[in-house]
Amino acid sequence: MNSAVEVEELTEDQWQRYRDIRLAALDSDGHAFGGSLEIEALFSEDEWRAKARQYVAIVAIVAGEDVGMMTVENLHGDFGATCWIGSCWVDPDYRQHGALRKLFSYLDQHAPTRKWSTQGLGVWIDNTVAIRAYEKLGFVAKGEPQKSTRKPGLFYQRMIREATK
Ligand SMILES: CC(C)(COP(=O)(O)OP(=O)(O)OC[C@H]1O[C@@H](n2cnc3c(N)ncnc32)[C@H](O)[C@@H]1OP(=O)(O)O)[C@@H](O)C(=O)NCCC(=O)NCCS
Repeated sequence: MNSAVEVEELTEDQWQRYRDIRLAALDSDGHAFGGSLEIEALFSEDEWRAKARQYVAIVAIVAGEDVGMMTVENLHGDFGATCWIGSCWVDPDYRQHGALRKLFSYLDQHAPTRKWSTQGLGVWIDNTVAIRAYEKLGFVAKGEPQKSTRKPGLFYQRMIREATK
């Protein structure tokens, strides 16, 4: 199925697609994220547009339907990160078919011109499926687990990956 997965970077004007797939991710797997469905379901158009500018969404598409996403924010992050990845999610019906890998291939392809060469992310320490997937993609755990401010009581692990050329 890998070859059937297309990847598209959304512009701010495509905020409704961003909203719909993000809310689907929170509805399906809210436990995996720092955000909450209750809060984001109430976002206005202006709030989605602001989010779309700061955290650029890249979506995975199968047969014309958005089935997965990630966001990327340019910043100077921990462990030399030049960008921070968030909101990684693939619809359960399409998992383990290379959709996440394809999203990272898009990042790597554009890394030199977009400053996406050193990629960082945070993942809950008990999200073993995601950690396994990130390791397969070349991420390495860095530093000690950190306390979440958005979800008190939870801890996240930072991971870093260098874009492949
Ligand atoms: C984590 C997640 C995004 C992975 O997406 P995916 O499209 O299934 O991942 P891919 O198919 O591209 O797999 C990428 C690599 O991870 C491995 N992998 C993915 N899921 C795996 C699993 N359940 N067990 C073992 N390995 C797994 C794949 O084998 C692949 O490695 P390979 O190409 O060397 O074989 C998906 O499971 C998901 O949406 N989970 C719920 C939300 C979540 O936890 N997000 C992370 C928030 S930090």
